Amino acid sequence: MADTHDLQDGKNFYLDVPQTCAAFSLKGSNALDWGMKNRLARIFNPQDGRTVMLAVDHGYFQGPTTGLERIDITIAPLVPYADALMITRGALRSSIPPEMAKPVVLRSSGGQSILKELSNERVAVDIEDAVRLNASALAVQVYIGGVHEHESIGNLVEIVNGGNRHGIPTMAVTGVGKELVRDAKYLGLATRICAELGAHFVKTYYCESGFARVAAGCPVPLVIAGGKKLPEPEALAMAYRAVNEGASGVDMGRNIFQCEAPQAMIQAVRAVVHENETPEKAHDLYLSLKSIQEKSQYA
Ligand code: R5P
Repeated sequence: MADTHDLQDGKNFYLDVPQTCAAFSLKGSNALDWGMKNRLARIFNPQDGRTVMLAVDHGYFQGPTTGLERIDITIAPLVPYADALMITRGALRSSIPPEMAKPVVLRSSGGQSILKELSNERVAVDIEDAVRLNASALAVQVYIGGVHEHESIGNLVEIVNGGNRHGIPTMAVTGVGKELVRDAKYLGLATRICAELGAHFVKTYYCESGFARVAAGCPVPLVIAGGKKLPEPEALAMAYRAVNEGASGVDMGRNIFQCEAPQAMIQAVRAVVHENETPEKAHDLYLSLKSIQEKSQYA
């Protein structure tokens, strides 16, 4: 029975202070429901609206690629520096401790391998399983201009619909086949289609010319993939240019976990994304953290 002894009437209703109704700061997300916003605010830092997501889902079509042979060993030490972890349900359940408090962006499409046509994907996770895994977002590949463009757009729509039923946002990942050019015209087309069909944020590639137009033409936040491993100064410069031309952060994989010093690199990427550090200073940070790490290994 509820305790009804000593009930006190409310006294201070701050009658002279109107209730605040602050706008949600993330681009294109103000009209979303509370649960969606709350999940997005776990991924995108509410202070600056940016994120450093760590992508480790490559095994879903590449197998045990360099740096991801043992996710339990190589990725766990990086997680504290990431704002979110992009991962498959198999790797999450088998290799990441459930005590990890970082939001999960769950890879939710798959069905092909590097041996076959890459755009031939299907929805690969039930929404109920994503809820069970406490996913903060779902990720689905969309292959605009690819052989299976239509089916991959269908996957996006299905995943967005499922996520919307449960308040879980969807990240569309613009997959680019070998035959397609990653220029502003193509990336603008692909990212805009994803946003129009309901993606809550979109992962794409940086392009040297016209990226600001790609970002402006996409009404929801963009994050960039790192792509193939680059020398560290180049990867940091790419991240710097992307966020300064309108990206809301990175979802970076190989340029972090394939580095000689992944922990140093993810901290350098954070400095660029969250502190707007120049690529040069971020690279200095990388080198100094790398040397500290090496000294501690040999001490
Ligand atoms: C792409 O197919 C996957 O989502 C990858 O995990 C992601 O795009 C790769 O990130 P990165 O290009 O930075 O290794």
